[in-house]
Amino acid sequence: MPKRKRKPRNADASDVNGEDNVVLYETAPLQLRYYGDPVLRKRAKPVAKITDAELQLAEQMLMTLEATGNGIGLAATQVGVLKRLIIVNIGEVDDEVYEPLVLFNPEILSSEGEIVAEEGCLSIPDVTADVKRPEQIVVEGINVERQSIRIEADGLLARVLLHEIDHLNGVLFIDRISGLKRRLLSDELLRLQQAQRPS
Ligand code: NI
Repeated sequence: MPKRKRKPRNADASDVNGEDNVVLYETAPLQLRYYGDPVLRKRAKPVAKITDAELQLAEQMLMTLEATGNGIGLAATQVGVLKRLIIVNIGEVDDEVYEPLVLFNPEILSSEGEIVAEEGCLSIPDVTADVKRPEQIVVEGINVERQSIRIEADGLLARVLLHEIDHLNGVLFIDRISGLKRRLLSDELLRLQQAQRPS
């Protein structure tokens, strides 16, 4: 039996034009960083100039996110790159389809209200918790066309944007949960920290 040619893990999702068109860049998904990796606690630096390298990083991050199968957002910090870049791909929510979003240097201009919902993080596998966050936000950033854009968001989109911007500041969602819940998770977090998944 012939060996199956190895395809990127996201092949199924992108395979709309047939097998030959799957790979856009000759790159593999990037390695995710996991809880316990010191890079996740560092503050990312603003992107001074969006060059081809930054655009390719964004493309690789989208590929990496897709390869996870269930991720809806990713910060460059989570692939070990300390640049202020986030991507969000929430797909379809309440019959509305959202295009993937790439934002350089995202800034929260305003926030309103408070809402609690369950969150998880690709860098903290198998851990979820209720997190209180602003309900509505206005975020500004620079898109892949190098244009400044302003996004008014609520619901899942607002939550993901806030979660990813937190990553750029070295903040994880578990920092935002109550002390009691965090104590309940402490064994699990310690286990993750000690495991430091192989890269
Ligand atoms: Ni996360």
